[in-house]
Amino acid sequence: MKIAVDGPAGSGKSAVSKELSRRLGIAYLNTGLVYRAFAYVCALENLEKEEVLKVFEKPLEVRLGVASTEVFYRGEEISQKLASEEVGRMASQIAILPSFRERINSFFRHLVGDGQAVVEGRDAGTHIFPQAELKVFLTASAEERARRRFEQLKSKGIEVDYKEILKVILERDERDTKRPIYPFKPAEDAIVIDTTNLSLEEVVERVLSLIKERV
Ligand code: DC
Repeated sequence: MKIAVDGPAGSGKSAVSKELSRRLGIAYLNTGLVYRAFAYVCALENLEKEEVLKVFEKPLEVRLGVASTEVFYRGEEISQKLASEEVGRMASQIAILPSFRERINSFFRHLVGDGQAVVEGRDAGTHIFPQAELKVFLTASAEERARRRFEQLKSKGIEVDYKEILKVILERDERDTKRPIYPFKPAEDAIVIDTTNLSLEEVVERVLSLIKERV
């Protein structure tokens, strides 16, 4: 069983996907984290964004577990270094390159293989696993998404400004939805859930009941 959970930044997809993975006892693939890792390594190795495919030759390793996606570079766990808005912005810039998207999607398919997984991203249901048994697309208002991101970064000790976050979210939405190839949109057979006024538990319960109905 594969469950695709897509949605924009701050829609709650990470928290929901992680909790689903934990409750179902299956692997969790956070594709956004992997995009971030590629963008981070690209910058670290002084590569131009257009050269991001070269990162596939670098010692970058992704390990999946229940409720965890871990990324190692040269043997060191780097997930903590990937949370900033700056890395998110760089990830969204490399994400517009079609050759990179094609390559990273096959990397994701290879990583999960025939196994069961909750796959979180922007295109998990449209391009990575179009055959997923369940596709969920989470949304929330831009203001609510900015508020959540603000709280999340603050709790990680990262200094942030709410207005700046809202601006970055709106810019990122614009770039992610308007890119000419692979524009970010829900799969036709995805169930759209607006999480603006829902708690994490409410969203998780809703998805679990959809799984019971379908699988
Ligand atoms: O989910 P996130 O905010 O960590 O993702 C960072 C960026 O990576 C996001 O702005 C767009 C890109 N991305 C993507 O294009 N496709 C994915 N499946 C995951 C992330």
